[in-house]
Amino acid sequence: KGERPENETDKGLRIADKGYLNTAVMRSEITYIDGEAGVLRYRGYPIEQLALHSNHLETAYLLLYGSLPTKDQAALFEKEVLHHGVMHSDAEQFFRSFRYDAHPMAILTSAFAYLGSYYAEANPSLQGQTLFTKGSPESLANMDKQILRLIGKATTMAAMAYRVRQGRAFVTPPTGLSYTGSFLYQLDHSGQENYVPNPILEKALDVLFLLHADHELNASSTTVLQTGSSLVDPYSAVAAGCASLYGPLHGGANEAVIRMLISIGKPENVPAFLEAVKRREKVLSGFGHRVYKTSDPRSFIVRKTADEVFKVTGKDELLETAMALHEAAMKDEYFTSRRLAPNVDFWSGLIYRAMGFPLDFFPVLFAVPRVVGWLAHWRQMMLQEGGVKIWRPRQIYVGEGIREYVPVEERV
Ligand code: ACO
Repeated sequence: KGERPENETDKGLRIADKGYLNTAVMRSEITYIDGEAGVLRYRGYPIEQLALHSNHLETAYLLLYGSLPTKDQAALFEKEVLHHGVMHSDAEQFFRSFRYDAHPMAILTSAFAYLGSYYAEANPSLQGQTLFTKGSPESLANMDKQILRLIGKATTMAAMAYRVRQGRAFVTPPTGLSYTGSFLYQLDHSGQENYVPNPILEKALDVLFLLHADHELNASSTTVLQTGSSLVDPYSAVAAGCASLYGPLHGGANEAVIRMLISIGKPENVPAFLEAVKRREKVLSGFGHRVYKTSDPRSFIVRKTADEVFKVTGKDELLETAMALHEAAMKDEYFTSRRLAPNVDFWSGLIYRAMGFPLDFFPVLFAVPRVVGWLAHWRQMMLQEGGVKIWRPRQIYVGEGIREYVPVEERV
């Protein structure tokens, strides 16, 4: 293809690493994964211990600031996050501008960017080019305020995206409930006096939130950092992360699992489905992971949580099919030789379905808690030694060499 340009001015070694299989872009203190051993730790704490003893907001504090909060710190953090839950009343107009059948992830993604338009204090272009100035407690406090606001408003905006499609009035966040309880209240409340969400379902959703809060540099967290590296405001960076999460290979997988189970129908159809997967005509959604090669530790906790939920809601009719699929795939050489095991999304969709959520809302239930992880990584990047360096990967150019422009009348 002719002579290719040389890349003489490049600094350092350039490797082609499609899909970033072997590229580390950060030094991070937040989340540790051992994909071979099936280990996940937030700031050193095993996920199993956190799921058993902690709650989503306490874990959010841990992910963001590096240590478990004291009682007073936890209470203050919760108070501030919930305080930020209230939306501006003119935002109702924004949510009402979507079609009744708009996908709620499209609404939520747009809503994060929309939210940023309210806060000039978070816009680095208006704040001397950076949101964080080293050694300035005011700028650190300003940055943390945006974090609290995004976590607080994530549930409110998700609930607005949910209710607008049902033509229902929006619900102001209540007082006296937990983060997850407040979310369920805003989703469900229909004007009943003394309404409180079912505590077992509230706890189950909180565990799911905690399990989804972070997962190292997955596609959406990387997108937040990539976008944030231009020093854009955190609302825009989170909107970009939310868009990345929307895809079926990432946060859309929980929705895809249920669609797959519905298409399989009865357990006796599982073998035929697996044969179609092997012929590469279908994807076994909820299986496989870029990092976990033996098991995803979150999937065991989700499976246990599902049983708690089914005690309240009754068993999901797709459970038998899911169990048959799980069992058959785990015994099949095609899947075992590729080291494919269920990931967190294989069972979570069944819980959301049993709780009555519409299918297309499932990725939203992933995005809301993941706001915490996105912001923990973003905060760490903003505060890192030496400041932020814009993320600008290179490519291996394989196109044409130099060519002479051909006038249109001479082209063949
Ligand atoms: N069904 C069937 N085959 C699969 C699956 C699957 N779910 N996942 C991987 N494979 C196969 C691949 O075809 C490949 O086979 P080959 O070597 O014969 O070509 C082999 O296993 C290795 O897989 P890769 O695609 O190289 O794995 P990668 O790390 O690139 O992808 C991913 C990981 C995207 C998660 C993939 O396993 C997948 O598509 N899973 C289904 C979607 C899903 O559940 N996503 C949720 C991920 S977890 C999360 O975001 C919370």
